[in-house]
Amino acid sequence: MKDLTPSRDSLDPIEVASRDEIQALQLERMKWSLRHAYDNVPMYRQRFDEAGVHPDDLKSLADLAKFPFTYKNDLRDNYPFGLSAVPREQLARIHASSGTTGKPTVVVYTQNDINVWADTLARSLRASGLQAGDMVHNAYGYGLFTGGLGAHYGIERLGATVVPMGGGQTEKQVGLITDFEPKGIMVTPSYMLNILEGFHKAGIDPRSSSLQVGVFGAEPWTNAMRLEVEEAFDMHAVDIYGLSEIMGPGVANECIETKDGLHVWEDHYYPEIINPVTGEVVEDGEEGELVFTTLTKEGMPMIRYRTRDLTRLLPGTARSMRRMEKITGRSDDMIILRGVNVFPTQIEEQVMATGGLAPYFQIELYKSGRMDAMRVFVEAAPDAANELAKTAAARMLTKHIKDIVGVSTEVVVGDPGSVARSQGKAVRVIDNRDSQERG
Ligand code: DLL
Repeated sequence: MKDLTPSRDSLDPIEVASRDEIQALQLERMKWSLRHAYDNVPMYRQRFDEAGVHPDDLKSLADLAKFPFTYKNDLRDNYPFGLSAVPREQLARIHASSGTTGKPTVVVYTQNDINVWADTLARSLRASGLQAGDMVHNAYGYGLFTGGLGAHYGIERLGATVVPMGGGQTEKQVGLITDFEPKGIMVTPSYMLNILEGFHKAGIDPRSSSLQVGVFGAEPWTNAMRLEVEEAFDMHAVDIYGLSEIMGPGVANECIETKDGLHVWEDHYYPEIINPVTGEVVEDGEEGELVFTTLTKEGMPMIRYRTRDLTRLLPGTARSMRRMEKITGRSDDMIILRGVNVFPTQIEEQVMATGGLAPYFQIELYKSGRMDAMRVFVEAAPDAANELAKTAAARMLTKHIKDIVGVSTEVVVGDPGSVARSQGKAVRVIDNRDSQERG
């Protein structure tokens, strides 16, 4: 892999400013954002009044803890434009996420918001080792999902060439990558595994592709998966984080020179970590739920938005801005099995660590009598697809999960291609606990 460390003078000055400078800017912007929300969004005015707080009460960054949280349900309850802080005519764009039940959550942007988003995404790409003049294949889905268009505008803002491929059509993806020779690819890590398979099917050695860096996000993935993809393509794999409610992709990004967690672009998106049960802010370094406050967003300011994502904040390394550790998972994705908390990422680590298995998996939850039980579906690697190897791999994975994650589970090793492939965000857990018990 090539050294793609960006030059120091290509960075935004604020990325390497002192902590004092960053905090002074944050305080000034936070005051503006609270005031903007209070003056223009009835829900915030009502919530702040009920909590007995006023934007003028914010004298220091720590005072933010006095303000009430915002939840995903608040977006649903104010569907579609109730949380917008500007007249409809001033909106440049609308995105939405479908969710599994009920109304979608809608997010809105002014032209200035789109600019900030493109700037912070361009910053993310620079941190990932890309620069003006490079070509980037964008396989995040276009449409109401923020991934496709968000990445697209960032690639253009960087001054790079964008290939607006979108998700799906794996064979075509492989063809375009081979013919156009992009240096970078943006896609979910699970769909990248599909593209990897596409290379194998086409009889093309993925290590011979032009790709030097992948900017992967929109779902949790592990360092074990990073190594798998880096090795398979002989490329760097860098983590990008974001969420629609706050902006979209590019709220935080790893730096290619360190790959040690994601630097939060704190001049626009202010992070806190809270204890998810008590709501208290915890110290940097402690695990908890990530909460964001937008500092410059005009269209839909978000004050203390509860992301449900679990991580911790760490001091900056390659940049002055604080890092968030790679996300373990969402609190909604946590499986509680006989009292043990399990995240799909923990299963991913064990699948990757077990020989003879391909890097695809899915978890099924079901009822065994009155108890919850878990079954892990994986598949044999193409060169280990005989019955003997499959039985050995199943036994090994069961043992790894028991010893390291701490739960008993049934492992089913299928033939190559038997596990459902991701088309974007992977569906890791199938919950059949409400349906009839299976065998
Ligand atoms: O997934 C935005 C995005 C697009 C990020 C492309 C990165 C790349 P939503 O659909 O609103 O937005 O989903 C946001 O996805 O709260 C996390 O639970 C999860 N997520 C996003 N990035 C990561 C990541 C986009 N790098 C939700 N690691 C977030 C782990 C992630 N989880």
